[in-house]
Amino acid sequence: MCGIIGYIGNKQSDCILLEGLKKLEYRGYDSAGVAVHNSNNIKIIKTNGRIKNLEEKLLEKRPEGTLGIAHTRWATHGKPSEINSHPHSNKSGTIVAVHNGIIENYIELKERLKDFGYEFVSETDTEVIVHLLDYYYKGDIVDALISTIKELKGSYALGVLCKDEPEKLIGVRKDSPLIAGLGIGENFLASDIPAILEHTRDIYLLNDNEIAIITRDSIELIDVNKNKIDREVYKVTWDIVSAQKDGYEHFMSKEIAEQPKVVKDNLSLRLKTDAKTINLDGINLDKETLDKINKIYMVACGTAYHASLVGKYLIERLARIPVVADVASEFRYRDPIIDKNTLVIVISQSGETADTLAALRLAKEKGARTIGIVNVVGSTIARECDDILYTLAGPEIAVASTKAYSAQLIAMYLISCYIATQKGYISEEEFIMFRNSLLAISDNIKQILKNEDRVKEIANKYKNCDNVFYIGRGLDYLVAKEGSLKLKEVAYIHSEAYEAGELKHGPIALIHDNTLVVGIATDEHLFEKTMSNLKEVKARGAKILAITLEGKEDIMDVADDVIYIPNTEWIFTSILANIPQQLIAYHMSILLGHDVDKPRNLAKSVTVE
Ligand code: G6P
Repeated sequence: MCGIIGYIGNKQSDCILLEGLKKLEYRGYDSAGVAVHNSNNIKIIKTNGRIKNLEEKLLEKRPEGTLGIAHTRWATHGKPSEINSHPHSNKSGTIVAVHNGIIENYIELKERLKDFGYEFVSETDTEVIVHLLDYYYKGDIVDALISTIKELKGSYALGVLCKDEPEKLIGVRKDSPLIAGLGIGENFLASDIPAILEHTRDIYLLNDNEIAIITRDSIELIDVNKNKIDREVYKVTWDIVSAQKDGYEHFMSKEIAEQPKVVKDNLSLRLKTDAKTINLDGINLDKETLDKINKIYMVACGTAYHASLVGKYLIERLARIPVVADVASEFRYRDPIIDKNTLVIVISQSGETADTLAALRLAKEKGARTIGIVNVVGSTIARECDDILYTLAGPEIAVASTKAYSAQLIAMYLISCYIATQKGYISEEEFIMFRNSLLAISDNIKQILKNEDRVKEIANKYKNCDNVFYIGRGLDYLVAKEGSLKLKEVAYIHSEAYEAGELKHGPIALIHDNTLVVGIATDEHLFEKTMSNLKEVKARGAKILAITLEGKEDIMDVADDVIYIPNTEWIFTSILANIPQQLIAYHMSILLGHDVDKPRNLAKSVTVE
């Protein structure tokens, strides 16, 4: 979702801001803008559409100045347009702000400000902020900001410039990420680390209602009562190269290809080759604690929610604890039954998804023990949950999640096996079987990726289907859900996932001879049943693509095309069967000419409800 970068230093700020915005493109946006302060005024340049449009406009007349802020906007209030894009300013152009998040009481504030004579030019909620700053400004922009945020309800990460204070860049956040970066003779403000990683690895992670006062030589953090805050510098250890394409044509293909390594990295710390148990990064869930747990909630959004469904299935089957998997936007409003014996596990790649964060806060408020399964180190969810298991996938840039999802599945396998072992439901022998299969997953994925050309041919054959059904039973159905989502996200093809046995209760009416049915059939015990369901749709004209285990050649009787995955223990087929699904979605998207890394209307990090 929207991105922010701010700079104050001794270099021309426009290039630094533009480069920073490019690093934030992956968050999703539909317009962009910069504001540059020179000693006389603040010049704002903005455009609708891609950053390259902004770049062209900047080239026409470069704004001079070594202090500036910039923004990529993902429209929420008001259509994508130049006037609605950020930065916004007060009427005289002396106070300028960029904003991520949503101001929930903006209508009420707008009415009040209009009564005071303020005129609004955009449809955005953000514009109330600059007029409030103007209203409260009495010579000190920090004071004005403190008074302003006291009026705001909702979420915000803000970057603010003031014409009369040319030595200051100000930032503040609530429920939307913001960081300040320390340089030498220059400092930064950003919504996300990649925006400034080229310049510094030393970061201050801001918490809610903390204000960063940034000058060329210092960064001061204060609270709303102007008390100084001492914050440890967070050192970024990952490399900018890992946030770039590395020779691949698209981030999505790079991230798909990285999965064997991601799996290895996740396991190397937690499951040794001769291990008799799993190390969950020191998360203490011993038998005594687990015996007291009456219920587990797994809460997430999008792809992470699909990982939680696999977690639910495995914890219930292996560890015999009831688990409710819930979409965060529903969970937070349905008064879930939680007490101190409830364990709430939230899953999030970004660690910033607004609904997931709200769900976590609700769970904590109700006294639950909370665990976060998070990819972005130091993100808000990672900081706020009681225990954290990082998914170690590195920065994921493509909007559609691939490697982070595989890492989340590994976390699900580890947690479910860990709990089952602690509770005594898995024998040593079974544990060793699981361990050895899990340790082979990285090579299994490599093997699947070797067949990418064949998958590409299949994608080409079916790319013009107007309707796709993904079907399966048990874990295979959960894999189907992720396959269907990926296809929608990047290939823009309508698809639905169905429990294979449920098809004949309605959706089979939609099957005709241009319908593709992707059948996932990796569960030995349910194989014949899924086969029967595939025959039912075949008889009604559907084309069938099957994903199954090596050796299951009888599926050729019904399928038009088959993709085989290596044999593994039943609990781990979900990660393997999903890899061809990612490749199908990726290749269909490219073949259809879509922007696979930045699909229309989608955002990487959804920091609004
Ligand atoms: C957005 C992204 C999805 C992601 C979901 C949850 O919709 O486009 O790829 O699965 O948010 O994000 P999170 O960062 O919480 O995993």
